[in-house]
Formats: sequence, structure tokens, C-alpha cells
Amino acid sequence: MALNETHHPPLPVVLDAVRETAAQSHRTLDALGTGLSKTIGEHLGVPQEDVMVGPGSGALLQLLFSTLTGPGTHTVHAWPSWEAYPMMAGNAGSSVVRVPLTNERHDLSAMAAAVTDETRMVMVCNPNNPTGTVVGRGALAKFLKLLPAHVTVIVDEAYVDFADPGSTDDGIDLYRTDERVCVVRTFSKSYSLLSLRVGYLVGHPAVLGPMRGHQLFLRVGAPAQAAAVAALGVDAEIQERCRETARERDRLHSLLVAQGWTSADSQANFVWLPLDKGVEELTQYCADNGIMICGKPGDGIRVTIAEREANDAFAALAADFRTRAASWA
Ligand SMILES: Cc1ncc(COP(=O)(O)O)c(C=O)c1O
Repeated sequence: MALNETHHPPLPVVLDAVRETAAQSHRTLDALGTGLSKTIGEHLGVPQEDVMVGPGSGALLQLLFSTLTGPGTHTVHAWPSWEAYPMMAGNAGSSVVRVPLTNERHDLSAMAAAVTDETRMVMVCNPNNPTGTVVGRGALAKFLKLLPAHVTVIVDEAYVDFADPGSTDDGIDLYRTDERVCVVRTFSKSYSLLSLRVGYLVGHPAVLGPMRGHQLFLRVGAPAQAAAVAALGVDAEIQERCRETARERDRLHSLLVAQGWTSADSQANFVWLPLDKGVEELTQYCADNGIMICGKPGDGIRVTIAEREANDAFAALAADFRTRAASWA
């Protein structure tokens, strides 16, 4: 429960595809993943040329940072958000401007105000890791109007399949209407393929074109491509799993709020408890009792949704911890 992975293993049809393709591992097969890009394009209703696949969305994000940013330029993103963004900027020799969340949510006006001539990318993690919060519907279209033409807007939708339908904008709709938008998605979370490493970008040639030349060995292995194609073939089942995870998330969230914890609504496969103190103590208390959670000292704790019994076990530990913390105070 410390990492945002799903407890659901890959579906049988997906494992069959991996086995079959693994038997062809001595062959080059589809080195650039064109079959997978085509399947994704058809699935989303976008041109295949606007899809770029890679070995995980993290690798593609790094490619975006490395291609679009460099010394003297920066990326604007919210904070707390995914902690890899500043590391990726560092790898690219660029920097970041962190704009604090307001009430656990992206402060889009403050983010727009932080954009300068040196800004190359604006990152919107939606739902946001670690808070799980989303940008409200319609907000991103207004945000785009505030941003200058030279900025590329990256909408990181690693967790979007867990969001309640209609709770936020679909990044793909924004990409359709604005050339500056590039959407990042992954098969690691909702599609249960974390260790196979498959992610993709959806963007216009102006954004993806300059990246193609740098993509040479950033390939998706053939078994992983086959797994992703097979997983899209059983998308209805996968989306039903996501709905089940979302129901469990809301149940755990309600249990924690009833215990007195403060937590904004999450639309991801995890819940977030903002805490300015006690993070290390709560994380250690859970670890001592068999549950690993993700503590971010000074900010809070993030707990990934797992099996019902595990979620209940965490809720019980959280309740115990509150009682103990109250008696120490
Ligand atoms: C917001 C966000 N984006 C992207 C990723 C990268 O996932 P992957 O490289 O497995 O596709 C993660 C992983 O934790 C994440 O939290």
C-alpha cells in the first residue's frame, strides 16, 4: 500500500499474450511498437501518428523534459505532486517552479501567474499524486487561455481510469482542441502491467516530432506490447475493476473521515491524509503492524487501495494511532 500499484493481477488473456510473444523473443518483431500505437489510436479515436509509446510513462516524461527543457528554462508544476518531476528536470539540466496546492488542489491561477518567458512546460497531474484530487470540469480549458503559445501543457493522467466518470476533464478532449496539450498515460496502474513497462503520450506533431529522433532505444519489449494490446481488448473488464477500486477508495475515505482525519476527496487509487507532524510515527506504526504506507514527512501519508481486508487493517491502525496520539498529547 506504499506504492500506487493495483492489487489486481493481469487478466488471463493478457498473460496468454505475454507467453505467446515471449516465445518469439529472439525476433525483432515490432521494434517501434507501431501495432500498439495503432491500437491505442483506434481505442481513443486519435491518429496513430499522434501516439508515442514507451517503456512506462515515466520514461516518456523524462524524454519530454530532456527534449523540451534545458539549462536556463523551467517547468511549472504543483506541489506536492509526483516527486519525480523535479528529478527529471534536474536530469535535463533545467529546473522547476513549484506552486503550492490550495486546499490540496491545483491552484491554476497561481500556476498561470508563475509562467514566464523561461517556462517551457506546465505539468498538471490529474488526478494528482499524492493527493488524488482532480481539477474540476472546465477548469483546464480556462487555464489554457491564460497560457502563452510557447508553453507545452503536459496532462499526466496516470490515475485517470480511477476517477469517477465526469469528475474531471478528459485530457484527450483538450489535446483535440489545443496543439500545446500533450497527454501522458500508462498501463502500469489501472491495466495491471506495472512490471512490463508500457506508457504512451498523445500529442500533436509539433510536440512529439522533435522527440521521435531521441526515442531510438526507448522501446517497449514485445511481450509488453502484446500485453497492452490484449488489455485494451478487455477494457470493459478493466474499467469495472477500476470502478471497484474507486468504491473501495470512497469506503476507506469515509472510514478515515469518520475517525476524525482530514482528507480531500480522492479520484485516484489511493487516499491522502495531509499531516504536518506525526508522518514518520504513523508510517512506522503501520509498518510494525504489517502495513506499508507511503509517508512524506511534513506533508502527509498516502495509502494505496488494496484488498478490502488490507484497507480495513489500515483503517483499524489509523484509528489506534489517533487514540495513542491523543493520549501522548
Ligand atoms: C503521476 C505519475 N505519472 C507517471 C508515473 C509513471 O508510471 P510508469 O512509468 O510506471 O508508467 C507515476 C508513477 O508512480 C506517477 O505517479
